[in-house]
Amino acid sequence: MRSPWAREYRRTPETYIWGTEPSSFARRVAALLPSAARVLDLGCGEGRDSVYFAAQGFHVVGVDASRAGIAKARRLAEARGVRVRWLVGDMARLTYPRPFDLIYSCGAIHYVPRLQRARFFSRLQSVTLAGGVHAHVVFTDREVYVEKGEVIDYFTPGELAAAYAGWLILHREEGRIACSQDGTPHHHSVESFIARAPAQGETGATQPSAKE
Ligand SMILES: C[S@@+](CC[C@H](N)C(=O)[O-])C[C@H]1O[C@@H](n2cnc3c(N)ncnc32)[C@H](O)[C@@H]1O
Repeated sequence: MRSPWAREYRRTPETYIWGTEPSSFARRVAALLPSAARVLDLGCGEGRDSVYFAAQGFHVVGVDASRAGIAKARRLAEARGVRVRWLVGDMARLTYPRPFDLIYSCGAIHYVPRLQRARFFSRLQSVTLAGGVHAHVVFTDREVYVEKGEVIDYFTPGELAAAYAGWLILHREEGRIACSQDGTPHHHSVESFIARAPAQGETGATQPSAKE
């Protein structure tokens, strides 16, 4: 397994290592959605963002490779009184049952091996409604800190934009996040990325050039 987090969730059944409050990225993305939007949260972990989306009135599917993570997520949803459809499995191999208004991931899709990514993105795009949104936070190769033996094909600058050719890029920002999950304070370099699919009848967006 490339990701160490299943092991960590099994080790910490009573606590939420990512917390129970939503990420700031989830809050930002939620503001872009229509009411009752259909949301897919890839690598949802212990459920903090899936549960937040459900509390906004969205119809949410949360996917994670870790059964222990999903068990915590399920508990959080019950405690908050919201319904989420939980799926355990490899996000790159699951079949998604219906089209979505939002496909979202926070800190998760960099675990999908680079060799699988072209097919992965094309499958995700094929289950997205016209005008729908994809939003990802990924680790990039600018500042590499390997944690708990994880195996990551770090995203390169521009890799996400290339995967979303023809989509309108709404937001793209590089940054650093502080982390100390392994007990040593460190940083990861990240890119946050939000893009909108062409609306019905549109052929695809022309991106503004760097000079504009
Ligand atoms: C850094 S955690 C982020 C969890 C959650 N998105 C959050 O922000 O709280 C990354 C998550 O991706 C999950 N993951 C890694 N590889 C996966 C895969 N191939 N399919 C599904 N989930 C995966 C891990 O189990 C872990 O829960």
